[in-house]
Amino acid sequence: MRVGDTHYRSIWFDEDAREVRIIDQRWLPHEFRVVALRARDDFTTAIRDMWVRGAPLIGATAAWGMAMDMRADASDANLERAARELLATRPTAVNLRWAIERMVNLLRPLPPARRWTAAKAEAQVICDEDVAINEAIGENGLQLIEAVAANKPAGEPVNILTHCNAGWLATVDWGTATAPIYKAHEKGIPVHVWVDETRPRNQGAHLTAWEMAAHGIPHHLVVDNAGGHLMQRGEVDMVIVGTDRTTACGDVANKIGTYLKALAAHDNDVPFYVALPSPTIDWTLCDGRDIPIEERGEDEVREVWGRMKDGAITRVTICPDETPAANPAFDVTPAKYVTGLITERGVCAASGEGLRELFPERAE
Ligand code: MRU
Repeated sequence: MRVGDTHYRSIWFDEDAREVRIIDQRWLPHEFRVVALRARDDFTTAIRDMWVRGAPLIGATAAWGMAMDMRADASDANLERAARELLATRPTAVNLRWAIERMVNLLRPLPPARRWTAAKAEAQVICDEDVAINEAIGENGLQLIEAVAANKPAGEPVNILTHCNAGWLATVDWGTATAPIYKAHEKGIPVHVWVDETRPRNQGAHLTAWEMAAHGIPHHLVVDNAGGHLMQRGEVDMVIVGTDRTTACGDVANKIGTYLKALAAHDNDVPFYVALPSPTIDWTLCDGRDIPIEERGEDEVREVWGRMKDGAITRVTICPDETPAANPAFDVTPAKYVTGLITERGVCAASGEGLRELFPERAE
């Protein structure tokens, strides 16, 4: 998507420098910084410390991490070690496991001398596929937005609430929850986005708001607690969020706070959609309570960071020094609160039957 007049993906391989480049998302919206990743430790740090984040981008970054590590040492022992270390970076987004397994299954049977070239090609395919998948999600979700728009007075915007950042920064391009929004905007359908700030790390305020502004999409930032009120007032036509792991029965793990939005949407008859690429489906799980939920450090809750009036980017503490904090990073929304899953193959019910209709090859 666009940054100024330039089209960017969130991750790419620079052929001349022979290194992977990412947008270091820790500095947005205040600074746009591109950094290089070369060694395996660069990749594990970038995922764990959230220089990159968002389920599809975590998977793509891990794929590139595997590839670059094969260039350094393509031995069997290093292949297993790279897979193990990358897998340990973040537990909830299943795209990480999916991408690593895909790379390992391709590379294991190959002789070491062929592994780097094959891995590089596969990482590139994973990225290109992600872009195509998300664009298809955009087309499928667009139809839902069009249906809502058709029932509103001409010219009135469709009000969409989203949580966290499931935008192009969370994927290789397009985003998942944002892809239908970008498609609608491109088509001239008026949309307005309520952007949840998404404490503790404020991905909504830092990233989604930045994306919306960059593409000229009308939006307002709201505190996480405002969603229920806006829904009661009829100011939300639909909710679209992303997911880090969707079970084969349609339960959905996403950024902490998503569940409360789903409850409020249910109580107010607001459709609640989850947009996801198929690598985000964990076909091995049915009950969302079995999804591992990442616990992150206390300081993310105890502090906020932002830009001072003098331009300095800094962190400030918002609680007494001795206050302990808990930081579950995701929650699970049971399928019964999800109106539909927007995938690259179409929109389906959040249920085992719904998913298997779209992905019949997964039917047992
Ligand atoms: O902790 P994060 O920023 O990686 O969490 C991201 C989310 O929760 C997104 O909604 C999810 O990964 C879907 S991204 C298309």
